[in-house]
Amino acid sequence: MSLTTDDPNVLLETAQVAAAAAGNYLRDVWQKPRHIQSKGWRDLVTDADVEAQHIITELIRGRFPHHAFLVEEDDPTLPTAGLVQWIIDPVDGTSNFSRQVPIFSVSIAAAVAGQVVAGVVYDPLRDEMFSAAANQPTTLNNQPVQVSPVSELIQVIIAFDWSRAPTDRQLTLELLTRLAHRVHTIRAVGSAALAMAWVACGRLDAYFNAMLKPWDAAAGLLLVQQSGGQLTNLDGTPWLLDSPPQPCLVSNGVIHPLMLRPENDIINHEIA
Ligand code: IPD
Ligand code: CA
Ligand code: CA
Repeated sequence: MSLTTDDPNVLLETAQVAAAAAGNYLRDVWQKPRHIQSKGWRDLVTDADVEAQHIITELIRGRFPHHAFLVEEDDPTLPTAGLVQWIIDPVDGTSNFSRQVPIFSVSIAAAVAGQVVAGVVYDPLRDEMFSAAANQPTTLNNQPVQVSPVSELIQVIIAFDWSRAPTDRQLTLELLTRLAHRVHTIRAVGSAALAMAWVACGRLDAYFNAMLKPWDAAAGLLLVQQSGGQLTNLDGTPWLLDSPPQPCLVSNGVIHPLMLRPENDIINHEIA
């Protein structure tokens, strides 16, 4: 194996192996007492986040010593420049994880020249590996998946998550206020990466997050794109990983215009 490869299939296989290794560890420890620290306003990290990240980065560095890393948990020992950049969230859903709520995931993406070319989101508790590589369909445990065909707001299950900043929470409340009486129902997930994977496989029709970091979204973005879905800002322009932080609306694509403009829905939604 070349130590400098940027072949998406090789990168994908490495991401899968690393996510499975970290996921096995998280599955073993998730019900045990954790050491939990605050690293900012409404922002937690546990000892298991750090250990899971270490498992992932050690495995990748063993294969590709010259690749670069962008990771959620600070690690000054990791190289930051290289042909391939690995974008890693070892536990997406730390608030859930820290309280033993069984919804969290491992997110690993590989980017070349700023474009994500391979990505996985692994749900260790359900042993579900969502994978995508450039120009290939998204898979769930090696079976191709697609976004839902839902085309009417009244059929939509939308999920969202709460950002940390008050202004982002307010934006989320405003979107939900416009949508709540028009959609089938609304869920809060607690792991942005997993919610995006669930849009990619059609379990959810849409997902909204007012503030995502690259490690939350890099793998999920490719999963959604390669399964036929769409990601935009609230003005309808494409949501890009490297643009300044923007609210991110994810959907199956078909429903996207109505999600952006729910007022245009022609169905009369009477409030009982
Ligand atoms: C968080 C989760 C959550 C989202 C937050 C993220 P973390 O990531 O993805 O769903 O709403 O914005 O920061 O901290 O659990 O890795
Ligand atoms: Ca995250
Ligand atoms: Ca995290």
